[in-house]
Amino acid sequence: MKEPDLFVFHARLVSPPESPVAMGEEVPLRVVEDGAVAGRSGVITDMGPTQEMLSRTTIGPDTRVLDAEGRVLIPGLVDPHTHLLYAGERMDEMEMRQRGRSYMEILGAGGGILKSMADLREASDEELLRSLLARLARVVRDGTVAIEVKSGYGLSQKEEIRSLAIIRKAAQRTGLTVRSTLLGAHAFPPGVDREAYLEELDRMSDAAARRSLADQADVFCEEGVFTPDETRRILRHAREAGLDIRLHADELAPSGAAEVAAELGCRSADHLTAASDEGLEAMARAGVVAVLLPGTSFFLRKEAFPAVRARQHALVVALATDSNPGSSPIESMPFVLALAFHEAGFTPAEALAAGTVNAAAALGLEDRLGSLTPGKDMSLLILDDDDFRTLFYHPASHLSWAVVERGRRLVDHGIPTEEVQGWTSEAF
Ligand code: NIG
Ligand code: FE
Repeated sequence: MKEPDLFVFHARLVSPPESPVAMGEEVPLRVVEDGAVAGRSGVITDMGPTQEMLSRTTIGPDTRVLDAEGRVLIPGLVDPHTHLLYAGERMDEMEMRQRGRSYMEILGAGGGILKSMADLREASDEELLRSLLARLARVVRDGTVAIEVKSGYGLSQKEEIRSLAIIRKAAQRTGLTVRSTLLGAHAFPPGVDREAYLEELDRMSDAAARRSLADQADVFCEEGVFTPDETRRILRHAREAGLDIRLHADELAPSGAAEVAAELGCRSADHLTAASDEGLEAMARAGVVAVLLPGTSFFLRKEAFPAVRARQHALVVALATDSNPGSSPIESMPFVLALAFHEAGFTPAEALAAGTVNAAAALGLEDRLGSLTPGKDMSLLILDDDDFRTLFYHPASHLSWAVVERGRRLVDHGIPTEEVQGWTSEAF
């Protein structure tokens, strides 16, 4: 075998299984107490106990060696639901909600998503790119190696396409795995006829697919926003245009969105805090991944979707930050995993699987990401502790000792590398 270009050894390896796991099944974590991982050209080539690995691996002059003694090594985290491209903030709304106004009241009064629409339209391409890169630099610091980023604050063909192009540019500049999602159907823009906007959404899907600017399409299917019938129409068209489909389903009130996700065979349905039992059952039967967002529940001061309910329905569950300026400005996957443990009753193993292999499955990337498996990406998170439950025990501490993304180091000895620092300091 060719010599590895990266060899990590003396780590405790903890990996979820290669394929997604449904809630209610025991999560068979694979543990190697004193283990090593070898990688070449960004791919894991071999792994096993350190002593065995040392006897069968050629360490050559081009092999970078990393001694991780006393530390636990898990697969890099995957964040399968974010709205990371935005301008401006909504701190006033956060305070309004604390004083009793609801998220939907604020949106109805022209705030919420519509405030972010106005801010985005005013921002230059450079401002948007710069802020997105700064957020990506923070995200990788906490161990995220692949991420989904949605448009959705443009709400016109021109602005949505501009948003998607900036997301692609950020992906190129950082070299990260970024799945980009068209969310033109995030709200109805004010002053635009409903039918006319639905037609514009179809043209957006066509343009985004034709220009390879989006991988997926999404709809905010919710009482007071897009109806189940409108959602069907938008997503059928998007799928015909060549995009993968998913939706924001039953976040605040039950509107039958989980049922629509199952009927259309969406890759995922996200939020689900108000979904019906029938809808969840249909999703499990149809193999739709349930993306749960406990950071949003926390930030909107609501109950998180309980793990016990996901187990009852044997759902494949992924966790995500939902990072956005309104309902969850949270950027850290470890913090979300900790919320899943403390607020929703996930076991540590369930939360780990939900932030890795199941999260990869929510993006169709499970063949490449989410477990320590030869042939998958050499994308790793090494924590500054020997027990991965430190993620739940020390929530909101920055625990990354090293983050490796397809063989390149993004965090080294707890510090973002020069490469990552360069994302925000480079001239434009
Ligand atoms: O997932 N619910 C719709 N979209 C976002 C919130 C976006 C916003 O408030 O800006 C969410 O929670
Ligand atoms: Fe969202």
